[in-house]
Amino acid sequence: MRRSPQTGQSQMTQSSDQRIIVTGGAGFIGSNTVARLLAEGRRVTVIDDLSRPGSEINLQWLQSLGDFDFRRVDLRDADATARAVGDGADLEAVIHLAGQVAVTTSLVDPRADFEANALGTLNVLEAVRATGGRPVILFASTNKVYGGLEWVDLTERETRWESTSHPRGLDESAPLDFHSPYGCSKGAADQYIRDYGRCYGLPTVVLRQSCIMGPRQFGVEDQGWVAWFLIAAMRGHRVTVFGDGKQVRDLLWVEDLVDLYLRLIARGEEVAGEIFNVGGGAERTLSLLELLSKIETLRGAPLDHGFSEPRTGDQRWFVADTTRLAERVGWRPTRTVDEAIDALWGWLRDHRQIIETGIDGLPSRSRVR
Ligand SMILES: NC(=O)c1ccc[n+]([C@@H]2O[C@H](COP(=O)([O-])OP(=O)(O)OC[C@H]3O[C@@H](n4cnc5c(N)ncnc54)[C@H](O)[C@@H]3O)[C@@H](O)[C@H]2O)c1
Repeated sequence: MRRSPQTGQSQMTQSSDQRIIVTGGAGFIGSNTVARLLAEGRRVTVIDDLSRPGSEINLQWLQSLGDFDFRRVDLRDADATARAVGDGADLEAVIHLAGQVAVTTSLVDPRADFEANALGTLNVLEAVRATGGRPVILFASTNKVYGGLEWVDLTERETRWESTSHPRGLDESAPLDFHSPYGCSKGAADQYIRDYGRCYGLPTVVLRQSCIMGPRQFGVEDQGWVAWFLIAAMRGHRVTVFGDGKQVRDLLWVEDLVDLYLRLIARGEEVAGEIFNVGGGAERTLSLLELLSKIETLRGAPLDHGFSEPRTGDQRWFVADTTRLAERVGWRPTRTVDEAIDALWGWLRDHRQIIETGIDGLPSRSRVR
């Protein structure tokens, strides 16, 4: 996609010399995104420091799919980030996904979390600003920027919390209420992304993502709960349910998210400055207890589990109201919760070797740097 120098408007002609940068491109969402871009014949630069266990496996898989430029760079390093971004003349879009992803890890080392998420994002924005270009910048923010949501009316049902006041989920007008170091660092990044659109005219879009699931997600106890429970079920591990297990999330299949990324890039200027809540929405929700029961059906035996205190910053309920996305860009999720769980279970079964041995030594926590 090129921009007219006169109008600044996107022109929908794709050119193979245009480049898309994916930070965190060796992670779960990143590798699925890069795979799609390669399949579409796009030029891609992946920036990743490979700190996430399993990211090297994703990178090798991507390298088997096609050619792309890989830069092993830690976004906390401003100069290295600027070099990886390059001069920007050929830059169509930046999909910024890299960062520290677990609330628990952020509580252990808030500084490392801040540096990866807030400083790392500022470094990406500054590197892009220095190019003088105007690539579309998509940022993977999080529902955690809305805090504990204690003000949302909830009713306790047998297996889940339900919101009577927000049957369609939470929309983007909900007040920001950063909670936990991760909530603060992602929230700061979310606001920097938004404000670079206002101050410097960069076409930025903030996506406040709910729970994403899909292949190449090496969930751990601290993050990626659906994948973590399924991996534990496959490996016969006991899991801990923090809280009463009635916490509810909406689930989004990663390919639906990648569809959205591509749609937003194609719309460029039209969606510049927008903020969207992104998830499976009110029709695709699940509680932990409900996942346990689905797993029992899948494997024909219950998953061994115990209960522990609720975790800091854990929302009892979050469901994204995706009405705005549907209205503005015509995007809707496709896979149902059951289809998504079956598909991920199938992927894990087909890639059992990776799960059993490939990420051996996978710690219970994401690494704190
Ligand atoms: N997965 C979800 O359900 C979800 C939900 C909401 C928001 N998000 C956001 O989406 C993004 C991607 O999430 P994911 O699930 O793919 O996580 P992931 O951990 O699989 O991917 C993140 C990638 O970033 C890399 N990375 C981490 N710190 C880095 C640094 N300092 N410099 C360079 N690379 C670094 C990691 O090696 C990893 O490959 C994250 O920003 C996350 O906060 C994810």
